[in-house]
Order: sequence, then C-alpha cells, then structure tokens
Amino acid sequence: MKIDSSIFNDTINFIFTKDNSVGLFNTVVNDVYHSIYGAKEEAEQKFVKPLNFKKNYLQNKELKILDICFGIGYNTKALIKTIIQTKYKGKVSIDILENNKNLVLISPFIKDGYFKQYSEISFILFDRLFKDLYSKDTSSNKLYSMLKSKKHIEPFYRPLIKINESTGSVYIPQQANKAFLHNIYYHCISQRNKRVPKPLNYSKFIFNTYFDDARNTIKMLSGTYDIIFLDAFTPTKQPLLWTVEFFKELYRLADANCQLVTYSNSAAVRHAMLESGFYVGKFFDNKNRQCGTIASKNNNLILNKLNDYDLGLIFDTNAGIYYSDKNLSSSCEDIIEDHNKRKLELNLLSSSSYIKAKKWSKINE
Ligand SMILES: C[S@@+](CC[C@H](N)C(=O)[O-])C[C@H]1O[C@@H](n2cnc3c(N)ncnc32)[C@H](O)[C@@H]1O
Repeated sequence: MKIDSSIFNDTINFIFTKDNSVGLFNTVVNDVYHSIYGAKEEAEQKFVKPLNFKKNYLQNKELKILDICFGIGYNTKALIKTIIQTKYKGKVSIDILENNKNLVLISPFIKDGYFKQYSEISFILFDRLFKDLYSKDTSSNKLYSMLKSKKHIEPFYRPLIKINESTGSVYIPQQANKAFLHNIYYHCISQRNKRVPKPLNYSKFIFNTYFDDARNTIKMLSGTYDIIFLDAFTPTKQPLLWTVEFFKELYRLADANCQLVTYSNSAAVRHAMLESGFYVGKFFDNKNRQCGTIASKNNNLILNKLNDYDLGLIFDTNAGIYYSDKNLSSSCEDIIEDHNKRKLELNLLSSSSYIKAKKWSKINE
C-alpha cells in the first residue's frame, strides 16, 4: 500500500485500499476514512446492501437521502450505482453533510473503481458540484494541488483542470461542463467498454451540499428522509456524531420507513439509537461477521434483531453507555470527559467481564 503525505498539509493521506479504490487516512484524528480492505467494497457492503433497495425502495416515486460525512462520496456513489442497476425511475434528492468542502469537490475525480463501468456517477456529481468547483473561492485552497495528484485522480479528468502554476489560479476551458458530458458519452459508447448504458436521466438527481459541522446542519434540516447514511469517524475517537442528542435529531428527520445505516457495531451507538426511539438491528458480511447497524421506526424493516447477548452488552456493561452532547455543541474532549464520568458513576460490568461470563455460562449449560 503506497502512502502519499504531500496533500492537505499532511493531515490527510491518500492510500490505495485493497480493492484498488482510493481511500484516505487522517493523521490528526488518527483514523481511516475508509476500510483498508476496500473503500468501494465497504460502501457497497456496509451501506447499500443492507438497504435491500429493490424490495424497499424501487416503487417509491421519490427518494430523499441524507449522506452524513460524505467525504469523497463512496456511499452516495454506491447508491447511485444501485439506482442505475435497478433502473429506479423516481426522483432522487441527496443532502450531503460534510465539514471538509475540498473532499466533496474532489469526489468526482478520484480513482474510485466506478470509472470504467459507471462513469455516469462521476458525471452526475461533477455536474452538480460544477459551480462550487470553479468558483473563485476554491482556487486558492489545496483543492487543485490535490487534483494534480497523478496517482489518485483518473487521468481522464485532467484536461478539465488546467492549473496556472505561477498564480495558483485555475483556468477552466469554457463549456467544460458540456465537454465533460460529451467525453463521458463518448467513453460510455466506446467499444472498449463492455457495458453500453442507456442514457441516464441526469436531471432526476438533486444535490444539496452543507459544508459545516453536521451538528449545526442537522438542527436546521426539516422534512423527512428515506435513507440516512452515517459514516463518522470511530465513536471512541470522535463521538461528536454518535451522541444520543444527535440520534434524536435523526429520529425527527426519519420517515416512517426510513433506514439509517452505519458501519459501527458499537454498543454505545446502538444504545443511543434505542434511546432515541429507533428499532435497531445488525447485519453481517459474507463471512458471517457483524459489520454494521441498521435503525428504523419500522420494526419490520429490521431483519436481524439484536439478541439477548447484544442487549446485555448494551444495557448491562460500560461499553453500552452512550455519549451525550446536550446542546450539540460540545468539544470532543468534553463529550469524552462526561462519558468517562458517567462510566465511573454507573460502575457497570466491563464488556470483557461480560463476554467471559457469557462464555462460561454457555460452556456450563
Ligand atoms: C470516516 S470518513 C467518511 C468517509 C466518506 N463517507 C467517504 O465515502 O469518503 C468521516 C468524514 O466525516 C467528516 N466529518 C468529521 N466530522 C464532521 C462533522 N462534525 N461534521 C461534518 N462532517 C464531519 C470528515 O471530514 C470525513 O470526511
């Protein structure tokens, strides 16, 4: 795995994950943005597959999606792939919540593994982010040095980004958007590509971008969503978006048949979801290991319910104590300090003692 540390003032490194899609690592949070086993694979397996899209959404006239912690967009991209594959006909509106605008803006250009078969995905994103991408206030930031990264950006897109090295400003050929559309069309019908897609109705996709702390954005959102992706950094490292108060906001925004999906198996996260009113379940990877959590207001949508063992971990051990952030404005440090304080006060069983005790009782059964 090759690491490039020259981008984003060394706080974000690009990596090739094992499925060859580009992932990121944050050196400040000391956490990965994507599974090293595959950024693309992770989005498809842990975020889109559990939705059971064909069964649960194909007949909807409209889909409202909330992608919290969009990053470089793998979860949205994986969902758009499913929308294309299943020939979903309705309108799709996607609200993007992300506090690092540059990540969202580079998302159409990244080597994400979709380019060959699903170049429409990048086009849709590019088209919708076009104004933000080429607005004056993005020209002086790190965005364009990222886009120059030869290793991690699809070479196909490079002509679109002409960089004026001396001033650091960007020259974009006029009508770049149209040219891009033309190129994508050409690319799609090229004999080199096995799949010849039917023209996609691009206009059915609406994107709204919110480049802020998701806690601020969430308070001002209204209406309801059919699908919510929550892909924040690991709860123990950055609990900001895993608190009971944040989940209460998500409950407010969830449609009766909404599915909220996350990669986290944390007992504290599941407890916060339950406390907010959601029914909560789990899902498994192809080796039958737990690989995420699903929450909904509709219990029928929860295929794999939490069992007594899971519920014991949630309610009887300190691993299940949820994070709290009363006004959705505390710092990470304060949230962790409050959490540690409540752990001491509650003095519950440690999760390791609980797991050992359960093993013993099983052996002695
Ligand atoms: C684990 S990564 C998610 C990766 C992403 N889903 C993707 O496909 O690239 C977490 C993302 O959350 C963003 N983030 C962290 N804290 C945030 C906050 N408080 N509000 C909004 N976004 C945040 C980070 O910038 C990062 O892109």
